[in-house]
Parts: sequence; C-alpha cells; structure tokens
Amino acid sequence: MRRVARSGGVRLATVWLGVALFAVGCGHPETPGRGGSEADSTAIEAKAWIPPLSPDALKRTLRLSPVPAVPVDPTNRVSGNPDAAELGRHLFHSRALSRAGTIACATCHDPRESFADGKKLSMGVMQLERHAPSLWNVAHLRWFFWDGRADSLWNQALVPLEDPLEHAFTRSDVVRTIHGEPTLRTLYETVFGPMPPFDDAERFPPAARPVPADDRAHQLAAAHAKRQRARAGIQGTATTGEHHTHLYGTGFYHPHQRAWDSMTPEDQEAVTRAFVNAGKSIAAFQERLVSARAPFDVFVEGLREHDPDKVAALDPAALRGLELFTGKAQCIVCHHGPLFTDYEFHDTQVPSNESLLWSDSDGQAEPPRRPEDAPPEDLGRVHGVERLRASEFGVGSRWSDDPNGPSRVKVDYLPRHLHEGSPEFKTPSLRNVALTAPYMHNGVFDTLEQVVEFYNTRETARPASGQSERILQPLHLSPSEAEDLVTFLESLTDDSLDLSSVRAPR
Ligand code: HEC
Ligand code: HEC
Repeated sequence: MRRVARSGGVRLATVWLGVALFAVGCGHPETPGRGGSEADSTAIEAKAWIPPLSPDALKRTLRLSPVPAVPVDPTNRVSGNPDAAELGRHLFHSRALSRAGTIACATCHDPRESFADGKKLSMGVMQLERHAPSLWNVAHLRWFFWDGRADSLWNQALVPLEDPLEHAFTRSDVVRTIHGEPTLRTLYETVFGPMPPFDDAERFPPAARPVPADDRAHQLAAAHAKRQRARAGIQGTATTGEHHTHLYGTGFYHPHQRAWDSMTPEDQEAVTRAFVNAGKSIAAFQERLVSARAPFDVFVEGLREHDPDKVAALDPAALRGLELFTGKAQCIVCHHGPLFTDYEFHDTQVPSNESLLWSDSDGQAEPPRRPEDAPPEDLGRVHGVERLRASEFGVGSRWSDDPNGPSRVKVDYLPRHLHEGSPEFKTPSLRNVALTAPYMHNGVFDTLEQVVEFYNTRETARPASGQSERILQPLHLSPSEAEDLVTFLESLTDDSLDLSSVRAPR
C-alpha cells in the first residue's frame, strides 16, 4: 500500500485542510451529494501530496478515524479489570464449557479467522441460522447479534453458552466446570471471591437451567432434531437424551428445567450470579479485541499531521474508492463513524440463503420434510426486540451493575412496533472486512466483489417491503469503480495486529 513520499504543496495543503476541518464542524457529513464548488477548484490545484478527494469526501473522511479508546461499561463492574479479562480469555477458549466438550467461543470466533469462523453459517452442536460476525472492536457496539437481541457484551456472552445449537450447556454446568478446574477457579476467586460449593451435586445438580419459553433457538433445535431423525430413518417420538428438544413447546417438562426447579431459590441465585460473573469476565476479555490501525487510519493521521508519507498509505485506487464510498455510492449513510457503522438496523433486502440452513456436520444439506416443521422466516430485528425485552440479563435487570444508568435509556426507547414483513439486520462494522468473508447475516456472499455487485446492481435484492431502505437504488458504477470500492474496503485491514494477549492461553 505504502508509496514513496511525494513532496511539495505543504502550504496549499494547510490552507485547504483548514477549510475542510472547518467544514467538519457544520453540516451533515453523513449526507452525501452536497457540492462544495467553491473548494472544488482548490482541490484541483492542490496536487502534490494532497489526495485527489473532493472537499465533501475529505470532511467525511476525517470523521472515520481514529477509533476512540474502548469505553468502560458501567453495567459490568469488571469492565476494564485485567484479572477478569484473563479469566475471560480462559473461558473464551475453553471447550470444557460445552455439552460434548467440543465447542468454545473460539470455535466460531477463531483468532486465526479474525475472530469469526470463515463459514457461511456457523456450526455449533447443530447448524446455526446465521453467519458469525468478527469480534474486532466489539466493545464499541450498542446492540449485539445481527438482530440486536442483547444490550451488553456480558448479556451477549451468556446466550451461546445455554443455546441448544451452540455450546448446548447449562449455567449449573458452567459454574461447576469453573469450580472443578483449578486454573479457572483460582482466576475466578481472585476477581470475585470464594465460590460456593458447586461440587455438591445434591444442592447443585448438573444440567440445570431455567428453560426459556418459546425461544427461537429451541424451535430451530427441534426442527433439526426432527430432520436428523427422519434422515436416520428413526420412527416415532424420542423422549430422552439428544432428542429431548424434539418435544420442546408441547408442554413437555424439560429435564434442565426439572433439575433447576429442584434447587432452592438461594442456590439458584448463587449459580446465576457466578454464571453472570463468567459472562462479565468474557466481556472484559473481548474489550481487548481492538483493531485500530489500518492503512486508512495512517492516511487520516497524515491528513491531520500534513505528513505526505502517511497520506501515501492509500494508493490512487483506494482513494477513488474512498471518494465513491463517501459520495456517489452512499455507503457512508449507514457505514459511518470510526467503526463504519451507524449501530442501527436496516432492511437492505439481502437475498435468502435458505438452502444452506439445513446442513449437518457431515456437510449434507436436507431441509425438513414437512414445511410445518421448519421455523418461520428469520425476521431479524422484529424478533430481536421481543427477545431483548424478554431477556433475563438486560442492562436494566437486577444482574446489571448500573440498572438505572445511561445504558438503560437505549432500551427504554426501543421501537414499539416493527414492521413484520421487513427483516432488519444490524449494520456491521467494516473494519477488517477483507479478513471476514463470507458476508451478511446469512453469509450469502462469498467475496467483497459480490457485496459491491449487490449494492451496485440490486439484481439479487429480495423484493422491497414497507421498511426497505429506499436509498438503496442501483448505483451504476463501472466495473473499475466497483473494483476501486473494493480496494478501499481492503484498506480498512489492520495487519499490525498483535494476537499474543488474545490467543488461547497455554
Ligand atoms: C457455534 C458458533 C458460535 C459459538 C460457539 C459462539 N458464537 Fe458468538 N456468534 C455466532 C454467530 C452465528 C453470531 C451471530 C448470531 C446472531 O446474530 O443471532 C454470533 C454473535 C456473537 C457476538 C455479537 C457480535 C455482534 O457484532 O453483534 C458476540 C460478541 C459473540 N458472538 C461472542 C461469543 C462468545 C463470547 C461466545 C462464547 C461464550 C460465542 N460467541 C460463542 C457464532 C458462535
Ligand atoms: C441503508 C444502509 C446501508 C447502506 C447505504 C449500505 N450498507 Fe452495507 N450493510 C448494511 C446492513 C444493514 C448490512 C447487513 C445486512 C444483512 O446482513 O442483512 C450491511 C452489510 C455490508 C457488508 C457486509 C459486512 C459483513 O461483515 O458481513 C459490506 C461489506 C457492506 N455492507 C458494504 C457496503 C458498501 C460498500 C456500501 C455502499 C455501496 C454499503 N454497504 C451501503 C447497511 C447499509
């Protein structure tokens, strides 16, 4: 990327940047298309090291970098605590925290895969319906999951552990495992004090958790179980073991719930508290996942410091892509700010990926035989809001360390009515996006070229619904413009990443 420095033009650049920096203070940099004809002529003159960008592009660019410091999460009292982060690192990489001892967070969020898994759809104990997002800079987000069904990083971490498709574990097993594993227990007790006697199986039975009513993960697990049984030619109804999810939702007394109900309220409280502490530690660990210095950031630093060497970090193709990104292609309307996301949800009419949904671990895909056995369509945010409201571990819950604080406001202002026919998904960050293929909530696109093609032609877009984004119209980019846009996206890759503090501990 880096080019030989060009010289000259320093004085002109200073004047011109002054104009641009002034412009940042006023107007709406996220609204492309406003001309700055007065400054345009300056831009043409300012050759030398000043990049060939329009003043609009320039002022919008300055808002895209640097990434600010990781904020402290007031709802998590161990946010920023290095001992908790170290415990979190062990938990994140531990396969012991899953039913079959095979799944860790790192299975689907692998440091070598940019904290994603490189798959279209993730595979836990069973196939998931969504694609694993990368976790770089995740501590900056407001909502978690593609549908925003978690409102804090620690709330999020508790979901996969008990999800029957992912770790398929239970909270009593999580705390019993930490208690029984000397390293984990020592780290835990350093941060949170002595653990209750979770090895007392009379008081703390294995496989115990409150089973949420009407949960999508269970609908999916049930559909998978039925389908797998049909594939294996098993007739009739299973009642135990692996297939108990089959009966979920039919008034069946789930064995996990039965075990949970056998505990005293005080012991249930103790288990949930330790479980929440584990989630908060995993969150503290994920605060370390910072990726903030891509060639693009060097370039922006160069603009601020008037340093031609740094400005040369973006080559002409990437600069043309940046101009498109912030202008004609309108990407910046949703992908803005230093994380290249508005932290919000949109219906961008991403095509369906239905055919992949029903794969087994042997790679064979087969949908449920009867359509009524398949769960309803993935409606994204519509269900995300419902599930967030039902969440036991919200930022306003008694498990939060700041239940009435500012984080609560975002939840109080959740939309009441979402349009059922419009599946909205969260705008993902684009930092390191070149490392995190495939793309979109359902992994439908394999390459950045395909993503750009999708925005450019809209040919594969699902039919529009009431809430679809009207701003997304065919862009009529030429093939070389589409390439430039991809080159720009690639300039958001931080290849100076030091993984030593985030890899699996030895
Ligand atoms: C089986 C694969 C799998 C496992 C195991 C898994 N995840 Fe994920 N993770 C995903 C997928 C898929 C999503 C998106 C799911 C969705 O939106 O419904 C996700 C979403 C997330 C997000 C939200 C990111 C964002 O941009 O909103 C975070 C944070 C996260 N996972 C952390 C974890 C942690 C911590 C663990 C372990 C406790 C874990 N994951 C275990 C696959 C997995
Ligand atoms: C209306 C808001 C909006 C606009 C405008 C927009 N995006 Fe997106 N972008 C999104 C949303 C929402 C998603 C996730 C959609 C999904 O998964 O269903 C997304 C996903 C992506 C992804 C996939 C990232 C990943 O990790 O999966 C890329 C790359 C991307 N957009 C690039 C662009 C580019 C380039 C442009 C301009 C041509 C653009 N976007 C314009 C909202 C927008």
